[in-house]
Amino acid sequence: MLKIAVFVSGKGSNLQSLIEKIDPKKAKVLAVVSNKSDCLAISYSEGLGIDTFIVDDKHFSDSLSSDEITDVLQTKEIDLIVLAGYLKKLPASMVDSFENRIINIHPALLPSFGGKGMYGMNVHKAVYNSSAMISGATVHFVNRNYDEGLIIAQRSVDITNIKSPEEIAAKVIKIEHELLPYVVNCIAEKKIIIKDNRVEVSPLNGE
Ligand code: GAR
Repeated sequence: MLKIAVFVSGKGSNLQSLIEKIDPKKAKVLAVVSNKSDCLAISYSEGLGIDTFIVDDKHFSDSLSSDEITDVLQTKEIDLIVLAGYLKKLPASMVDSFENRIINIHPALLPSFGGKGMYGMNVHKAVYNSSAMISGATVHFVNRNYDEGLIIAQRSVDITNIKSPEEIAAKVIKIEHELLPYVVNCIAEKKIIIKDNRVEVSPLNGE
């Protein structure tokens, strides 16, 4: 059983699709961590009875430090950290403790439109202003630098006739909700290997 911790900062729609679409025989979300005690993703997780933890939130008395969160995750024997709309950079010590066991979903086709400040609508505005005809979603391993770890999987969407960044966001979030559970199921089935600085994903049954 792949034991998962999901880090969130906002609505938590990716968290929700992950919980609905991962194979319950092979993977389970055991903890949800957020830097915002009042975000929708936290109330959603509490409603499901999942253990929640707040990190580095000065306004929340039960907030934990990054080192304390790392300890919690190690005690729970977490195998995989999934950043699903988590908008803070993870400290290097946490990245090092979970080397090649942290993944992130990004709402564009990396290596374009990534890096510091590129999150949420900022990404879709940059794509819109670039006049690109294609956008998409990327799931990648997390290293010490923003959006630079090895790419695991990508899906593209045609944005030829869109009229606003919001329209791009609406198209991209739909594929995010498929791509992230797909990658997590692949990891649970041990179908992902790193070879020659590239990631190979063997096809899931029936694909
Ligand atoms: C998602 O679009 C995710 O890709 C993005 O934040 C949104 C969270 O939505 N993440 C980033 O921009 C990270 N650079 P959600 O809370 O509804 O899942």
